[in-house]
Amino acid sequence: MCFTFLLLIRKSLDTHFGIAHTRWATHGEPSAVNCHPHRSDKNNEFVVIHNGIITNYKELRKYLISKGYEFESETDTEVIPKLIKYVYDNRENDYVSFSTLVELVIQQLEGAFALVFKSVHFPGEAVATRRGSPLLIGVRSKYELSTEQIPIQYNSNGKSPRASKNRVDSTVALHSVSDRKAVEFYFASDASAIIEHTNKVIYLQDDDIAAVAEGKLSLHRMSRCAGEDPVRAIQTLQMELQQIMKGNFKAFMQKEIFEQPESVFNTMRGRICFDTNTVVLGGLKDHLKEIRRCRRLILIGCGTSFHAGVATRQILEELTELPVMVELASDFLDRITPVFRDDVCFLISQSGETADTLMALRYCQGRGALTVGVTNTVGSSISRETDCGVHINAGPEIGVASTKAYTSQFVALTMFGLMMSEDRISLQKRRLEIINGLRMLPGLIKEVLTLDDKIRSIADELYQQRSLLVMGRGYNYATCLEGALKIKEITYMHSEGILAGELKHGPLALIDKHMPVIMIIMRDACYTKCHNALQQVTARQGRPIILCCQDDPEITRNAYKTIELPQTVDCLQGIISVIPLQLMSFHLAVLRGYDVDCPRNLAKSVTVE
Ligand code: F6R
Repeated sequence: MCFTFLLLIRKSLDTHFGIAHTRWATHGEPSAVNCHPHRSDKNNEFVVIHNGIITNYKELRKYLISKGYEFESETDTEVIPKLIKYVYDNRENDYVSFSTLVELVIQQLEGAFALVFKSVHFPGEAVATRRGSPLLIGVRSKYELSTEQIPIQYNSNGKSPRASKNRVDSTVALHSVSDRKAVEFYFASDASAIIEHTNKVIYLQDDDIAAVAEGKLSLHRMSRCAGEDPVRAIQTLQMELQQIMKGNFKAFMQKEIFEQPESVFNTMRGRICFDTNTVVLGGLKDHLKEIRRCRRLILIGCGTSFHAGVATRQILEELTELPVMVELASDFLDRITPVFRDDVCFLISQSGETADTLMALRYCQGRGALTVGVTNTVGSSISRETDCGVHINAGPEIGVASTKAYTSQFVALTMFGLMMSEDRISLQKRRLEIINGLRMLPGLIKEVLTLDDKIRSIADELYQQRSLLVMGRGYNYATCLEGALKIKEITYMHSEGILAGELKHGPLALIDKHMPVIMIIMRDACYTKCHNALQQVTARQGRPIILCCQDDPEITRNAYKTIELPQTVDCLQGIISVIPLQLMSFHLAVLRGYDVDCPRNLAKSVTVE
């Protein structure tokens, strides 16, 4: 995980604070010398922690080296403490405030960052800022907070702000300063890092500068931003500590898999009326007319969130009768994909902070398209910056491997299709069938979860293998991609999701009696074609483990093993069929002895490109 974290505790007459950062390496290998905090010099005059990437660090580094600075690490971050020391040493006035220095520094930085600084020159003070990377402030107070909104101060005249010694900052005390034990501030990139301490948070916006000194928090912005939203609200998070605890499960991922009957229900709660067969997504209803008139829908995401787009493309095409493109955010940007004012772009992201998806959002906005966020994190950058959106309400997802967010994204996007087709008489029968399927979904998921023991025993046979193929087509192709992603990311086995229609065009060469293959063959429009693929596999001595519908003797006869699943409407079957693969990946990872929740090299929020 990628949490920048600062803790500041006010105690009697002393201020205590510390900074630390769990780093996800971008520049420079994971090693002691590349660890944060980074420092300006051997005397630690300025120290900094940083989440993000500084894209112009090479130019800055070259400049600072020419000024005599010596670098210790290979990171992009190290230019920041050196730069602030350079600015401090070359200041025009004797007195300059810490936040002013930070402002001068960030004017020189390009890229994405959330930063927290401390300095021997400003004892007892900490300054934090962000641009492009998330940063929030948790506030814990013994007393009712004296204000629910923190005013922003704008530095004067657009010039480099130079505070005079007598400058009076109109800071806001969040507590009575007469009780100095009363307040603690936490800086973090994600609310789950601080929820244990407080549920009161302030989400910082790009270029906000937050300073904590003398037990007071003040927020600043550059004068060029004057006129923008003049306050930052203190929000109360609904997340409970026990919600993010593991309970009786071995891992958060396992807990989250088993939460899916409730999480998909919560995605639908208050949005589907099963009496009238209507679906209302409150965040979209005012934009519906505009969406109905659009040229095409573009679904954009990364990893699992991209798979949710693949999983729902077909039903969205059917229900909206619009062309639907599904895009990996990074590739979408690399291709400089044409986007038009009459496109509607869906940005799908569990965290709401994934850098590629966020950049794709800004790219679409720049081209005038309507942007719709599909996120699981209220207050996240994507949910704030999109024109409108849907919160999937799956609850906090802690395990790095996404599970319940996927099934809730799937449900949310399907509900969008249902809302779009409400007036289409020709689609009413289909709508009813799907709405009924959604009603039954939590019960069916519970039924699938009872297969856990059987799946564990199959994992027992497979866990020493090097590779595992997952094959299917139609509505279940996304399940193959998603199942293979789960397997590779937490078991470190090679795994590939294969479209059964492509079998003859290459993957068939992999099949022999040694290659483990999982096939998904459900009773839908692709059944006969999947059956053909099965014969191709068995003809080459393949021994397929088949996810199929209950009571399918034809399939059972040809399978090495079957996992029989309850049947639902075709377009929702992918929600049912992905769960055994989530469980399979979990058991394989446990049997192989890996940390399921924190797979190597991966982070929960990928806030760098
Ligand atoms: C896989 C996984 C990742 C994320 C991807 C996007 O289990 O978790 O592939 O799906 O990094 O993250 P979000 O959805 O937060 O944008």
